[in-house]
Amino acid sequence: MTSPVQQLAVRGGTPHRTTPFTKWPVHDEAEVQAVTDVVRSGKWWRCAYGTGELEKKTADQVAGRSRVEVFEERFAAAHRAKYGIAVTNGSAALDIALRAVGVQPGDEVITTPYTFVSTSMCIMNNFGVPVYADIDPTTYNIDASQIESLITERTKAIVPVHFSGNLCDMERIMAIARRHGLAVVEDAAHAHGVEYQGKQFAGTFGDLNCFSFQESKNLPTGEGGMILTNSDTLYETAFSMHHLGRLPGEVWYKHFHQAWNARMNEFTAAIGIVQLGRMFEQNARRMENHTYLMERLAQLPGITPCVNLPGITKHSHHLQMLRYNAAEVGGVPRAEFLKALAAEGIPCLAGYTFPNYGNPFMTSDETRSRYRAAGIELPDYRAYAERCPHTERACYHEAVWLEHRLLLGTRQDMDDIVGAFTKVITAFRG
Ligand SMILES: Cc1ncc(COP(=O)(O)O)c(C=O)c1O
Repeated sequence: MTSPVQQLAVRGGTPHRTTPFTKWPVHDEAEVQAVTDVVRSGKWWRCAYGTGELEKKTADQVAGRSRVEVFEERFAAAHRAKYGIAVTNGSAALDIALRAVGVQPGDEVITTPYTFVSTSMCIMNNFGVPVYADIDPTTYNIDASQIESLITERTKAIVPVHFSGNLCDMERIMAIARRHGLAVVEDAAHAHGVEYQGKQFAGTFGDLNCFSFQESKNLPTGEGGMILTNSDTLYETAFSMHHLGRLPGEVWYKHFHQAWNARMNEFTAAIGIVQLGRMFEQNARRMENHTYLMERLAQLPGITPCVNLPGITKHSHHLQMLRYNAAEVGGVPRAEFLKALAAEGIPCLAGYTFPNYGNPFMTSDETRSRYRAAGIELPDYRAYAERCPHTERACYHEAVWLEHRLLLGTRQDMDDIVGAFTKVITAFRG
């Protein structure tokens, strides 16, 4: 690096950039119209009140149909999946999917500790026992080579998380699952529209697969979620479980499964339909800018971008994942580095504060006593710190996240990000 040393904004210098980046969520009159139409229609939920029926119409139009039903069909079709079930949020999707594939109290579920808390919490909401494989330090996704050694006679399922939109090694994971008769629930909360080898989308490899539409996600509806599946029987079970255990053709007040009410409402679906129409184009723009940005950031000392699974043909780039090496940046800890970048006008995050197993609820007396009452002894999750060194490093020292909205901007935006990183690294290296 030959750039001259400039006074950092954090030390009183001039910020590298003062104009804001693209705001998220992106919206216009189309969302306003879609929600207004729902208000005026007087149809605010997917069911037909009074008759106790789910409305099922065949016309491929929004008008006169449940928006929720239309959104399910379109989201599933966009991912080449047979069925979609729209739910209240991504966590509800995971709660339902895990129970519907048969996770019973005491069953072990193998997953990654480098994920949002819902992945583990939803296993535990079903009284399952999370078992963690460490992440691959180059991708931050579950290290598939560790999974097989963690399988016991209590293992029921695997939950791979496509962290940041980077697909897990699903060919390998599905082969392991089939060999051992395990269910697979993909956590695709970051992986809307992620296509592998031009033919198969994230969220269609496993048995029941879960998306989130929370506001930060690539398809935002505020809150919302979707389960995708190609299985007729799992569709019926999961659908029933998001509908308080009702079954089609049965009377309204008869409930066959212990379940949830997690139905999406019509307002949410109306926004989802509009946002789905924007998503693939936005993802394409992210892909273009991501390549340009990562090529340049990779040349800087102390910065190594995470590696994508080879064969991804469409990416969501939900987060741009960088690995920060303080030793190459004058020993400056990550928190200080991020503070300096933020002062230069570049929004950036350290990401998950703890690995999932380090969250207080996982080792609390409250949680342990609830499990004990069910006759289940949880492992001591503190011991995972030694077993997952790559996750520890990512959480506590290394990970730097850039949000996907930054990639919706111009080439100049990308150059500004590179310029600010260069300025900060040059100054800290002295
Ligand atoms: C990896 C992951 N899984 C699950 C969820 C849960 O989704 P939601 O916030 O819609 O409940 C999220 C979202 O925040 C997530 O990032």
